[in-house]
Amino acid sequence: MRLEGYTRNLVDEGNEKFNLMILCWGEGHGSSIHDHTNSHCFMKLLQGQLKETLFDWPDRKSHGDMVQKSQRVLQESKVAYINDSIGLHRVENVSHTECAVSLHLYSPPFETCQTFDQRTGHKNTVKMTFWSKYGEKTPFTTVSQENN
Ligand code: SIN
Repeated sequence: MRLEGYTRNLVDEGNEKFNLMILCWGEGHGSSIHDHTNSHCFMKLLQGQLKETLFDWPDRKSHGDMVQKSQRVLQESKVAYINDSIGLHRVENVSHTECAVSLHLYSPPFETCQTFDQRTGHKNTVKMTFWSKYGEKTPFTTVSQENN
């Protein structure tokens, strides 16, 4: 489990139709493997690069490592899209020297998602938290529970 992690900063709630947020990724920061709670997820790289690893949903009967479907490095200004029918993903800033900044649009917005243990496929429901909302720091002092 990674304790340090990226920050999630809410920019707009789109009249409850979407969440627009900026994510800031320090060197080596990454998300857990997670789903998107039946929402559409668009992500645009504003600065730096992020590695995206796609996984199949774990089979109820399967034990052991989750199946990795593909991997790619998203370059600055590129846009990526995922939803639950495509699979699960992990997003990481693998750079040791550069931070990364990405813009995310989730529609409809969601308050919880499921994270997955790569070794076992076991899942946990976690609450989505924001480091800041509309430029104001929230009371959350720790990073998103999605980071693990
Ligand atoms: C993503 O799923 O695109 C990034 C992870 C997050 O929303 O915290």
